[in-house]
Amino acid sequence: MSDEKPLGNFPVLETERLLLRKLEVSDSEDIFEYASVPEVAKFLIWNPHTKIKDSLDFIQFAQEQFETASSFILGIELKAEKKLIGTIDLRGFNFIHRCGDVGYVISKKYWNRGFVTEAFKEIVRFGFTELNLNRIEAHCEEENTGSWKVMEKVGLSFEGTLREKVFFKERFHSMKMYSILKSDWLNK
Ligand SMILES: CC(C)(COP(=O)(O)OP(=O)(O)OC[C@H]1O[C@@H](n2cnc3c(N)ncnc32)[C@H](O)[C@@H]1OP(=O)(O)O)[C@@H](O)C(=O)NCCC(=O)NCCS
Repeated sequence: MSDEKPLGNFPVLETERLLLRKLEVSDSEDIFEYASVPEVAKFLIWNPHTKIKDSLDFIQFAQEQFETASSFILGIELKAEKKLIGTIDLRGFNFIHRCGDVGYVISKKYWNRGFVTEAFKEIVRFGFTELNLNRIEAHCEEENTGSWKVMEKVGLSFEGTLREKVFFKERFHSMKMYSILKSDWLNK
């Protein structure tokens, strides 16, 4: 991988039940539906959306990030319902060290049905085989059990807790750090 922008033509990724694709303005209502739920935003840096413009602004932000290839915020579309149920992000690239990190959110209506695990596995496959990454990491708060369970199901290893790593919602948050290396993935 070079240090140029190698990701300009990011493809639509497909799994058994999902499409992972760029966000469109037409996704705003689906995004507002889940992003306006306080429980969904509890462990996230952003506040619940209170108006549809918040969701439109987020879509615009995601599209701008795509254009500069700085991060890839992909919509998680449930094929059976043609509905956008969340997003999964591949971000924080370092093309010299060939690493990046992943974040995700999904509508509460669809929790605990394996959707984020399915999406994350595909991002890992794509990251290692198409983007030539060597390390993919993710982090979450200790109390966010659903999130670190996803990381473990995808095959990431716990590396430790980063004490008071981030500041949002008026306090510091410690984060559990997980990662998977290409060699781990190839050996599974
Ligand atoms: C965390 C989140 C992304 C998980 O998505 P999901 O599609 O429900 O995840 P999956 O169904 O693939 O896996 C979740 C696992 O956690 C388990 N789980 C969830 N909550 C749990 C809890 N409170 N205690 C124990 N296990 C829990 C589920 O049972 C499942 O494990 P299993 O398949 O072994 O039963 C989703 O809950 C979410 O969007 N939360 C809000 C946003 C967020 O916190 N994002 C992560 C920021 S780091």
